[in-house]
Amino acid sequence: MTKEGKINWIAQNYTTNSEETVAILKQYWHDNPELQNLHDEFIENTVTNFYLPLGIAPNFLINNKLYAIPMAIEESSVVAAASKAAKFWQTRGGFKTTVLGTEKVGQVHFIYQGDADKLSHFFKLVKPKLIAGVAPIVKNMEKRGGGIKNIELRDKTSQLDDYFQLHCTFETMDAMGANFINSCLEGFAQSLKEEAQGYAAFTDKEKDIEIVMSILSNYIPNCVVKAEVSCPVSELKAHQSITAEEFAKKMVRAVNIAKVEPYRAVTHNKGIMNGIDAVVLATGNDFRAIEAGAHAYAAKDGKYTSLTHASIENGVFKFWLEIPLALGTVGGLTTLHPLVKLALEILQNPNAKELMQIVAVAGLAQNFGAIRSLVTTGIQQGHMKMHLFNILNQLGATESEKLSLVDYFKKHTASHSAVVVAFEELRNKK
Ligand code: MEV
Repeated sequence: MTKEGKINWIAQNYTTNSEETVAILKQYWHDNPELQNLHDEFIENTVTNFYLPLGIAPNFLINNKLYAIPMAIEESSVVAAASKAAKFWQTRGGFKTTVLGTEKVGQVHFIYQGDADKLSHFFKLVKPKLIAGVAPIVKNMEKRGGGIKNIELRDKTSQLDDYFQLHCTFETMDAMGANFINSCLEGFAQSLKEEAQGYAAFTDKEKDIEIVMSILSNYIPNCVVKAEVSCPVSELKAHQSITAEEFAKKMVRAVNIAKVEPYRAVTHNKGIMNGIDAVVLATGNDFRAIEAGAHAYAAKDGKYTSLTHASIENGVFKFWLEIPLALGTVGGLTTLHPLVKLALEILQNPNAKELMQIVAVAGLAQNFGAIRSLVTTGIQQGHMKMHLFNILNQLGATESEKLSLVDYFKKHTASHSAVVVAFEELRNKK
C-alpha cells in the first residue's frame, strides 16, 4: 500500500470517525516534503510523526564546563527538576564525572555435543582465524582506535545441556556499535562452524556445531560512568522547612532505603531514568538499550538495588551515580535527524565518552531533585504545579485564564479537583 492507502486502511478499519483520523494524522505531517520523507523512512509503515516536547535544562556545570542539556520527555516535572538541581549544584562546585570503562559485549551462543577439552583446544587454534575472518569489518573501527578486545570460550553446560558461548568484548569509540558488533559476531559464528567441520580431532557429532544466535548484549558492566556531587553539609540548605544537616541525613536515609528495598529501588531508579532517557532520546540514542542495561546493572549483585549512593563523612555530603551507558555520537540517527544533530550541537558536539558523562549527570540531577522533593515538600507539590498546564489544557482554558490560574496556584495547593473548581469559579465570575 502507499502511505495514503495505509492511512485510509487504518482509519477505516480501526477508528470510528475515519475522516477525523486522517485529518489528525495529516495535521502532524511536516510541511517540507523532504523532511517528512526522511522521517517516513526511519521505520516501516509510517503514517505520521509523534511529537514529544524538547526542553532545555540549563546551568549544568560538569567538570568546570557549563552545559545546557536538551531533554525530550513528556513528563511535566522532569526538565524543571533537572534545571533546579543543576542550579543548586552550580554554586556548590558542580558535577564531577569519570568514565570507568567503555567495553562493549556480544555473544555467539552455540550448541556443541562432545568433549569440552577438545572444544577448548580447537578454540585456541581457531581464535586467530575468527579474528582474521572479520578483518574487513574491523578495519575502519581500528583506524578510529577501536576494534575487537577479546574472544573467550565459555562453557555454560552446568546451566544448560551442551550450551557454550563465545563471549566477545569490543571497543567501539564514538559509535554505539550495535551494527559493528553484530556483524563481527555473525562473522565469528560462521568461521566457528566452518572450522569445526574441518577439524580432524572432532567426531562427526562434535563437528556439527549448531549456532543458535549471535547478538550484542545490552548488559555492559564494564562500560560505566560515575557522576558525583559533594559539598560541606553546612552548605546543603535545600529547603526552608529543614536544616542543612537534617536534609543531608534524610537524603542519605532515602538512598539507603532504596539500597535495601527493591520496591523503592525500582521507583528510585525510574526517577534516575527520567533524566537519562530524556537526554538519550534527544541525542538519538537507543533508550531501550540503556534502560535494559541500567536495570540489569542495578541487580548485578543478585538483588535489585539503588543506582545512586550517598554518604556523609567528615562533614561532607557526597552523592553519586554509577551507571552503564552504551551511547553513540556518530552513526544511527545522529547525522540523520535534524533535531538530534542540533541537540548534539547544543551539547558542544561531545564524543561518546563526554556524552556518557553528560547523560549520567542528568540522571544524578534528576534523582537529587526527586529525593529532595520527597523528603521535604512531598512530590505532588512540584508535580502538580507542572501538571497544572495539562489539566488547564484538558479543561479548554484560554491563555488569560491559564495566566490567572497559574498565579492563583502559586499560593494554593494544586490537585486535579482543586484546579477544576478554581477554573469553574473563574469562568462563572465572568
Ligand atoms: C516520577 O516520575 C519519579 C519519582 O517517582 C522518582 C522517585 O520516587 O524517586 C518521583
